[in-house]
Amino acid sequence: MNSICSFQTFLWSEVYSQEVKKMNIVKARAILSTLLLVVFLGVLFIMMGVLYTSKTGHSFLGMNKNQLFRIRNVLGPLMNALIIVHFGLNWGMYKRELKVLFKK
Ligand code: HEM
Repeated sequence: MNSICSFQTFLWSEVYSQEVKKMNIVKARAILSTLLLVVFLGVLFIMMGVLYTSKTGHSFLGMNKNQLFRIRNVLGPLMNALIIVHFGLNWGMYKRELKVLFKK
């Protein structure tokens, strides 16, 4: 009886730790997606500024073209790095989608 109980406890702890792992991946995805969204909006904003300064020669919100480029040179690579991690975390989902797409 005791060994059955400890086996049950073992099974439950396995199931529980699997659930915790799943929750952590979902949380990691949510944090990453939020970061991506914020950085993406930043890149969009800076690109608008670059276009504006290039066309008019005026500064954009007090920033000249050089300053805008410096910000873009930080946000661009950061976004690329986040995209690589994001793609890695969602690779499984994408693989399943491809299977559905090419299924005969
Ligand atoms: C503005 C930037 C982006 C944001 C905010 C974003 C957000 C999201 C969200 C919310 C999901 C659902 C799953 C999750 O929460 O992780 C997702 C899925 C996914 N994203 Fe992104 N994403 C962005 C850019 C990208 C880019 C550039 C790629 C390609 C390299 C990409 C590839 C994928 C893939 C493959 C999935 C799996 C689901 C599917 O294929 O539909 N994402 N993304």
